Amino acid sequence: MSQTPDKPRVLVGVTGGIGAYKSCELVRLLQRRGFSVKVVMTEAATRFVSALTFRTLTGEPVATSLWADEAESRVHHVSLAEEADVMTIVPCTANVIAKLAHGRADDMLTTTALATEAPLVIAPAMNTHMWRKDVTQRNVAALRARGVVFVEPGTGELACGDVGEGRLADVALIADAIEAEARRSRDLAGVRVLVTAGGTEEPIDPVRFIGNRSSGKTGFAIAEEAARRGARVSLVTGPTHLGDPYGCEVVRVRTALEMRAAVLARFDAADVLIMTAAVADFRPAAFAAEKIKKHEAPDAVPLERNPDILAELGERQSGVLLIGFAAETTDVVGNAREKLRAKRLDMVVANDVSDPALGFGTEANRVHIITPDAEEALPVLDKRVIARELLDRVASRLTPQKER
Ligand SMILES: Cc1cc2nc3c(=O)[nH]c(=O)nc-3n(C[C@H](O)[C@H](O)[C@H](O)COP(=O)(O)O)c2cc1C
Repeated sequence: MSQTPDKPRVLVGVTGGIGAYKSCELVRLLQRRGFSVKVVMTEAATRFVSALTFRTLTGEPVATSLWADEAESRVHHVSLAEEADVMTIVPCTANVIAKLAHGRADDMLTTTALATEAPLVIAPAMNTHMWRKDVTQRNVAALRARGVVFVEPGTGELACGDVGEGRLADVALIADAIEAEARRSRDLAGVRVLVTAGGTEEPIDPVRFIGNRSSGKTGFAIAEEAARRGARVSLVTGPTHLGDPYGCEVVRVRTALEMRAAVLARFDAADVLIMTAAVADFRPAAFAAEKIKKHEAPDAVPLERNPDILAELGERQSGVLLIGFAAETTDVVGNAREKLRAKRLDMVVANDVSDPALGFGTEANRVHIITPDAEEALPVLDKRVIARELLDRVASRLTPQKER
């Protein structure tokens, strides 16, 4: 790092998982993308890939021990921690996640991670049961709450022979997340952003409801990205299994009417409203206070229309930048453009939900970004990347407004 001060510096931590060999590929990829890379390894990691491999790839000493010999003493944990623009741990074991969550620092890697002020990007990889354990998920949530960026493991065949969640995320996606941290701008500093996410649940009786398949992932990704870029973010979300994103006020609601009330209460204080929530268009006209018995099931459930929150706010011509999402199954662009016009929006992000591999509940999506005078088709992108792309466009639209 010292010999190339002009390049952004990434410190790659490698821990003792079978995915350790993929961090060699990551190092290469980061170098190709213009980063200066150094490596720190746990003792267990050296059982999977040798320090010599990383030393050869980076041309730099590899830190493996706090009690280093003469040659390694200049890469002491504090200087490593201070030099790094971004630290990443790829793959990250359940063990290191647990240690970091509790502030433990008993080897070179965890001591450096505790000492650094740089953003930390963690890509976990482990057996499905280890990943799903309450204790691991609690540790992940604790780190996330402190601002650690997680590149979630994917689903697929694991080294142990199981098939499930826990596989190291795609190396290119990890590199994207690192790059986003290294180059992150504060272009939304002070901007007040209101985001809605998830689907709503419209109760029929105390245990049944009408819902939809929205997972909330896109809205959560947008809220977190906006907060990391300096925005003051409120996230109003319907029921979802997702944990609170970093740095946001989170308001959890259930029904469309509750979402409307929470959004209206915050709208006047907002500069931007990004409405990703799949708000139910209809709700059951009546709510049965007691659970409806099987033999009393009605032949039909009469519905009544829910208010259209976005259309109502578009009517106000408030000056707040209004961005809607449109999930369509036919004529995606045409229908989205009609929504833009009818609801007087500044931007609509439209996607085709007829492809089961994309959209609701998945990690990726293919969207069109439509404004009154332009139309852009983006390729299939991870939802976090879509969040970055969208906020780039939001930031560029806000700049001229601020200068006026
Ligand atoms: C063959 C093998 C593969 C392993 N793969 C993983 C893994 O993918 N993820 C994980 O969390 N632990 C894995 N472990 C367990 C860790 O190596 C073990 O918890 C070790 O103490 C981790 O040390 P570290 O966290 O300091 O690197 C594996 C162990 C072995 C023997």
